[in-house]
Amino acid sequence: MDAAKVGIEETIRTRRTIRDFNGEPMNQEEVIKLLEDAVWAHFHSAREPWRFILFMGEGRRTFAEAVARTLSKEMIEKYGEWGMKQYCELMQAHLLVVIEADPRQKQFEDAFSASAALIQNLQLLAWDRGIGVVWKTNDYNWDPKFLESVGVKAGERVVGTLHLGYFDESKVPRPKRRTPVEDLLTIHQEYSHTSHE
Ligand SMILES: Cc1cc2nc3c(=O)[nH]c(=O)nc-3n(C[C@H](O)[C@H](O)[C@H](O)COP(=O)(O)O)c2cc1C
Repeated sequence: MDAAKVGIEETIRTRRTIRDFNGEPMNQEEVIKLLEDAVWAHFHSAREPWRFILFMGEGRRTFAEAVARTLSKEMIEKYGEWGMKQYCELMQAHLLVVIEADPRQKQFEDAFSASAALIQNLQLLAWDRGIGVVWKTNDYNWDPKFLESVGVKAGERVVGTLHLGYFDESKVPRPKRRTPVEDLLTIHQEYSHTSHE
């Protein structure tokens, strides 16, 4: 029991966002397995609020072109070769986590929050298996041209686009500083009566 606890703590603390991938090939089964485990995130709706769209292999070019469609001419010139290399060679998979854009605030926030928990599950599992992930909320996630090209339907919302791939240990970024919890925490230990009268 204690060993398992230490394992989780270490995975949470050492996981880093990976943006620098090395291009080592990845099997589709590995991504499917990550999803099969990650969907054990909790959700607060009658049915699971998420669905997924995955681009791998030659499908990565479809994704890269969908991104390019959202860029200005100048940006495409800049993005050109660099973008295609990133999206079609170095990154092994592009995974969109999609929910229904429910107009009711509570239902939407419940679905969004549950999906964020699923994404964190996936990132921690991936880290444990030596797979790097970056969670992207680039502007294209709201661009109708991109959404149509990648198969996001009207009335859906992208929670995150995840890029997955293998990476070299030497390229793992340094962690961002975390604020000591005592600076963020308000504790109530004594009863205090509050009244709005
Ligand atoms: C909701 C969310 C959106 C993010 N969007 C982006 C993004 O668009 N581009 C990017 O490079 N990183 C993005 N990230 C990754 C964060 O920038 C990253 O988690 C942060 O740099 C801290 O690094 P760490 O994950 O290694 O602790 C996002 C992370 C979260 C949680």
